This record gives sequence, C-alpha cells and structure tokens, in this order.
Amino acid sequence: MKKRSNLFTQKIAALTALLIAAVACSSSDTSLKDAFAEDFLIGTAMNEPQVHGTDPEAQPFIIKQFNSLTAENAMKWERIHPDPNRYHFALADSIVAFGQQNDMFIVGHCLIWHSQTPDWVFQDSLGNPLTREALLERMKDHILTVAGHYKGKVKGWDVVNEAVDEDGSLRKSKWLSIIGEDYIQKAFEYAYEADPEAELYYNDYNNELPQKLAGVEALVKNLQQKGVKIDGVGIQGHWHLDSPDLKVLDESITAYASLGMKVMITEMEVNVLPTPPEVYGADISQQAAYLEKLNPYPGGLPDSVQKQLTKRYADLFGVLLKHRNTVTRVTFWGVHDGYSWKNDWPIIGRTNYPLLFDRSYQPKPAYFALIREAKRQK
Ligand code: XIL
Repeated sequence: MKKRSNLFTQKIAALTALLIAAVACSSSDTSLKDAFAEDFLIGTAMNEPQVHGTDPEAQPFIIKQFNSLTAENAMKWERIHPDPNRYHFALADSIVAFGQQNDMFIVGHCLIWHSQTPDWVFQDSLGNPLTREALLERMKDHILTVAGHYKGKVKGWDVVNEAVDEDGSLRKSKWLSIIGEDYIQKAFEYAYEADPEAELYYNDYNNELPQKLAGVEALVKNLQQKGVKIDGVGIQGHWHLDSPDLKVLDESITAYASLGMKVMITEMEVNVLPTPPEVYGADISQQAAYLEKLNPYPGGLPDSVQKQLTKRYADLFGVLLKHRNTVTRVTFWGVHDGYSWKNDWPIIGRTNYPLLFDRSYQPKPAYFALIREAKRQK
C-alpha cells in the first residue's frame, strides 16, 4: 500500500513538473511584441556588439522580442558627426538596415542634446564661442544632414533631448546661452524640413514629475502656438523600485495627452541598486563614488528583490496599459541586464538587474508578469 501511494505521489509530482514546464515554455514562446501588439510598440536600444554580430545570440533575440529599435549611441552627435567636416554613418546605417530588414519602427536618437556633443560644435576654428547665427547654421547643417540621410527610414526623431531642468526652467546649456530660447523651435523646424513625414518628439527624464512636467508642457504649448510640428513627448523611464509614484506617472500621461501629444516611454529600466536620490534621473555627467555597500548583489539578485522588481514592472505597465490610446511605444534601454548602462551609471562597476531578461537571455519573473498583465487587460 505504502509503495503504491509513493508511486502515485511520484506520478503527480512528475505531471506537475510537466505542466509547469509546459506553461513556462508556452510563455517563452510568446514575445513582448506579440503580447502588446494591440497596445503599443515594444522597442530596445541596440549597440555595436549586437549589430556587428560579436554577440551571436543578440540579433535573433531582438527580432523575436521587439518591433522597434533605437541606436543606443550611434546617432548621437559625437558619434555620427565627430569632426566639423566628417559624418560617420556606418554604424548607425547598419542598425537602420537591421531594423528595416526586420520590419521594425526605427527611432532616431537624438538630434540636439547637451551631452555627448563635442566642444567644437560651440566654437569657431580658433576656439572662440560661436555667434548665434553661426551656431544656428551648424545646427541646421547637422539636422538636415542626419535626418536627411535617414529620411523615410527613421520614423520618429528625438529632436531635442533633456532641455528642461528639474525645476521646470530651461536647462542652462550652450544651446540656450548661445542661441537663446528659440533653439528648440529651430531644431524642430529643421527636423521638419529634413523629413516632413517623420514624427518629431521632445524627450527627457523625470518629465513625469510635476515641476519638470510643467516646464515640458510650456515647451510643447509654445511650439504649438508658433505652428511648429511636434508629435509626441518621450518619457525616458529611467525608473527605480520606489520612484516615481504611479499616480504621478498616470497624471503626467493624461497631461501630455490633453495637449494632443503621443507619449512614449523611450529608455525604460528599473534600477534595483541603492542609489543616492540626488542622482535619480539620468544626467550622464553625474557620477558617484563606488562603495561596496552600494553594490550589494554581485553574485545574483535575491528572491525578495526579484519579487519587488516583478511587482514594480507589473504596476508600471498597469498604468501604461491604462493609457494605451496615448502611449504608442515602450522602449527598454538595453536587451538584457548585462547590456544595461545602469551597471556603470551613476557608479562604475556595479552589477544591476534592471531589465526583463537576465545575462543569459533568460526571461525573468518580471517578463512573465508583463505577459500576464497584457492578457489580463485585454
Ligand atoms: C546612455 C548610453 O546608454 C550609454 O551607453 C552612454 O555611455 C551614455 O548614454 N539619457 C539618454 C540616453 O537620452 O542617450 C543615455 O544613454 C541615457 C540617459
């Protein structure tokens, strides 16, 4: 009798294991882009090892999971226009070609930004600051050349990136001090001239927070009053386990929608490491010192934190799905945890776990939670 009941228990255990494997397998057969096909595009940032095939797993994986692509660095001024008379399109061209071959919505990131822009941009050949006219001329040349080069291929441009400060005022960048407030308007006008069909976006981090939101609303209204085309606002989405508040995100999307803006989450990840609040955000010029206690999980993410990450992703996507008529795209800033810039920013050399796939391309519990969330909200 004992023997028979043992056998029975073993059979049940085997069947249960099979069932779990079948469920896991069917979930990993699905993909993010399919799960959210009726809601919004799902994008990723792509970098050099991925496009050049140094990491052979990357491309099939990207094709399976994502239907939108952003070059993580290749289209930034310092990369695509490193010297006054030299444009370097090769890497960005390869990313665009990969996106086109796989029918992906290609995003151009970004035309005008204060970071990753060489100093020469703001100086004449003797190193003196440029005049307003000369810098406008340079800006126009850059935008017409780059957005012109990708005309019809890049479907949406981050025309201006991070022009607003935390308090809602315009960031004190060289663009602002040399040209004046209308540099933003000019950038959008040149982008429109370069490709009238492309969608044009303003992109920033922390612009879901009330003060910065107010600044971006003013910026959008100003462009609209002047009759300048702007189609959407990108919220970068460099988020944390405990911030931003879901209500704040919810209200900010409503606010942008009421201005007629599409909203896209353009660089999403959820940081799980202790991070000084003064570097919440994504100002890439900020750095903090490495301390062992700020890198608590070098050998793997504890279950308790994995659970928090899973819940956080599900909650954030709950808000985004609620706004599926406004949110047109969610782009993750990296393919898997190993590729995330959050391993090195704002502190170099940490082990972070901010994305949906682990360093071996395996889906994390947060991935399955999002697939469930997509189904639940149908
Ligand atoms: C980051 C890249 O991920 C890094 O590889 C690079 O070293 C610095 O920039 N806001 C943006 C992105 O708009 O372009 C930044 O990307 C992250 C913050």
